[in-house]
Amino acid sequence: MRNDIDHIMIDEQRIKARVEELGKRISQDYAGKDLYAVCILKGASVFFTDLIRSIEIPMEIDFMAISSYGNSRESSGIVQIRKDLDNNIEGKDVLIIEDILDSGQTLSYLKEMLSARNPNSLRICALLDKPSRRSAPVEIEYSGFEIPDEFVVGYGLDFSEKYRNLPYIGVLKSCCYS
Ligand code: IMP
Ligand code: MG
Repeated sequence: MRNDIDHIMIDEQRIKARVEELGKRISQDYAGKDLYAVCILKGASVFFTDLIRSIEIPMEIDFMAISSYGNSRESSGIVQIRKDLDNNIEGKDVLIIEDILDSGQTLSYLKEMLSARNPNSLRICALLDKPSRRSAPVEIEYSGFEIPDEFVVGYGLDFSEKYRNLPYIGVLKSCCYS
């Protein structure tokens, strides 16, 4: 599997340090609030489980599964809800935790959908941000790393459901997009 990786873009140490920083900022910003962290499955799963352990204030967690990508690299633009939240978020301070903000289609749709449920606040935290690919405007309050327009895998991110278990963010060799 690791032979499929052209190079490591962000190694484990850098990820760990940045996740801890984000956890500290979130802990400060949400002190005294009703933090409700929503993990967007499956891509954010690894980031989420690390991030919540860096948050030092009382909070709740929930999971939502959506799909916006088929087996290809490009966003289909169609967002399908496969698993909805378990609880009502009315009055909660909802923080959406995502793996990557690419075109922005997925998160702009999600944000609109969740804001209709009347949370007290609604913000986004994404591990990665590819601003050069944005086609839908989305405001992101917590971003781990800005990255160039390269397709990355690992630390939860997949290509055709594989490579999620890599402990770093890596760039796939072009031969492996098949
Ligand atoms: P968007 O709707 O184009 O912003 O796409 C968001 C979703 O596309 C993410 O949640 C990922 O699942 C997927 N995605 C976008 N870029 C990458 C990438 O470089 N590697 C793996 N998945 C990606
Ligand atoms: Mg994906």
